[in-house]
Amino acid sequence: LLKETILNIQTAVKQLADINFALDEALIVAITDVRGNIIFANRKFCEISKYTLQELIGQNHRIISSEFHTAEFYRKMYRTIAHGKVWRGEFKNKAKDGSIYWMDSTIVPLLNEQGKPYQYVSFRIDITERKKTEDLIRRADKVAAIEQLASAIAHEIRNPLAAIQWSVQALETRSAEDNERIRLISSELERIDSIVEQFLLLAKPQTVSFQHNDVTVVLGIAVSLMRIHAGKKSVRIVTKFENDVPIVWCDQNQIEQVFINILKNAIEAMPNGGNILVQLERDPKRGVLIRFTDEGVGIPGELIANLGNPFYTTKKKGSGLGLMVSDKIVRAHQGTLSIRSELNKGTAVEITLPAAEPIETMP
Ligand SMILES: Nc1ncnc2c1ncn2[C@@H]1O[C@H](COP(=O)(O)OP(=O)(O)O)[C@@H](O)[C@H]1O
Ligand SMILES: [Mg+2]
Repeated sequence: LLKETILNIQTAVKQLADINFALDEALIVAITDVRGNIIFANRKFCEISKYTLQELIGQNHRIISSEFHTAEFYRKMYRTIAHGKVWRGEFKNKAKDGSIYWMDSTIVPLLNEQGKPYQYVSFRIDITERKKTEDLIRRADKVAAIEQLASAIAHEIRNPLAAIQWSVQALETRSAEDNERIRLISSELERIDSIVEQFLLLAKPQTVSFQHNDVTVVLGIAVSLMRIHAGKKSVRIVTKFENDVPIVWCDQNQIEQVFINILKNAIEAMPNGGNILVQLERDPKRGVLIRFTDEGVGIPGELIANLGNPFYTTKKKGSGLGLMVSDKIVRAHQGTLSIRSELNKGTAVEITLPAAEPIETMP
């Protein structure tokens, strides 16, 4: 009988170990005491939080909190589990290296004989990817709404503007003084028209004309256009273009617009002057890589995620549309736009564009 009991226990222990192994593979697990101090964390917990087990043990669970949730959110959670009830919800956490991850969490209080919790066990799964997708969809909705608005406004303004422009020009006959005023009105009207045109860039449908283009040329035009502007702000634009980068299939105007937007931001990030390095390289994976590196004010890590949001600006006269439009254009070209930045050191914007299909040449 004893032998049988031992065998049963051994089987049970093995089963538990197997279940434990399976849980360990599937879930992020941590155990804390009632004050929230970590007394156990499994391998996956360490992996995702980027802390070692030694660093975690004894630390308060707050070590992985991001500033995202309100104090009220945490209070509610603690109230639930302190009353011996299971809490379920989504946490946005911060890893050791500052990266953000989302977790779907279930926190189970372990109760003593008096029904009071003596430990909390949390089981979580990583939902960072799902959160990113949700965010993209939300952002895409916003962009679509703005596009509609942009298109409506632009058309409502453009037509009357053309009529005014035409009438103003028809006035031109009287005194020199009047003519001067008329010219001024005319040039201001042109300026409004060009702003509206920018706005229309946002709106669908656009007249795009994709062609085989040499990025060296397009980038060259954008740089020489912006050099004049940069010079006035004591900003120097230095170029480093590799030879024979592949030809890309793109809309020249749109890509030029992207380069101008990025250069404009770089100039505006250096109110006391500095250098912008513009590099053009062959990218083994993607075709071409264009990198703009400035020595400007930089962007705080937690704000980088806001950059693609329409109307997000830190400038008095900013529109907050430049990066959004640029990102949209680059993505329409199957390219990528990424930003790295260090506060008070500078910012690097990298754009990749896929190489065009090889052009058929006559034998
Ligand atoms: N090179 C850069 N250096 C520092 N901050 C930048 C840079 N590029 C963009 N930003 C930040 O991103 C924000 C949004 O840029 P953008 O979409 O071009 O709109 P705007 O330039 O009108 O503000 C800027 O207000 C700024 O805070
Ligand atoms: Mg801008």
